[in-house]
Amino acid sequence: MTVTNQHELTGITRISEIVAIVLREMKAHARAGMTTAQLDAFGGRLLQSFNARSAPKHAYGFPGFTCISLNHEIAHGIPSEKRVIKDGDLINIDVSAELNGFWADNGTSFVIGRDLQGLQALVDCSRNIMMSAINSIRPGMRVSELGRHIEKMAQHSGFRVIKNLAGHGVGRALHEEPHYILNCEDKKNTARFKKNSVVAIETFISTKSTQAEQLDDGWTLVGNHGGHVAQHEHTILISENRPQILTAANNIC
Ligand code: CO
Ligand code: CO
Repeated sequence: MTVTNQHELTGITRISEIVAIVLREMKAHARAGMTTAQLDAFGGRLLQSFNARSAPKHAYGFPGFTCISLNHEIAHGIPSEKRVIKDGDLINIDVSAELNGFWADNGTSFVIGRDLQGLQALVDCSRNIMMSAINSIRPGMRVSELGRHIEKMAQHSGFRVIKNLAGHGVGRALHEEPHYILNCEDKKNTARFKKNSVVAIETFISTKSTQAEQLDDGWTLVGNHGGHVAQHEHTILISENRPQILTAANNIC
């Protein structure tokens, strides 16, 4: 969406703050021994306390309030009573929701407890790249240029990017124009970032895989060559100077 008045600014600011608080609290609540269904229920209750509706459930019929992906899973992991979170697991929590017709999206990957799989460097790299990418965006910049920047930074740190997952416009729906804010250059994409528009910037930084593939459950995404992927995501408002991070309350920075 493009913000054109105070009502829109208030609406998108509020739902962004809500998803950020829910993500922050779910991260604080997550621990070894808990199932992903328990963590999701905690997030669902928090969303409800703000009268916000889960975006994946409401818009896509996703079987959970939030997406919780463990280890080799990249995204869209289904919360389950059978999945117990373990010490050293790489976990990704993605929270998106709607309130009063406004939608926002944010996500984070982190290691549960001790870094038994040696993944903290991947997590730190993903978060740093997301912040650098966000801070580089100005009105008029090509979306493709941002993708080039993200992939270059990943390569500099010895990582790869997932090339078929992307950030996206957000605000009046979960996914809006521009639909493909890729983590790599796409010369055919001539879209540019617009002043006062709201977008979700998300990184998919990877140790081995370069493509995401869907499992037979119809949701869960895993890498084509295995390994691990870290994702970090903020909803931002593009302005003349540095973008405003609308989900800053999640404390990912
Ligand atoms: Co998301
Ligand atoms: Co998103």
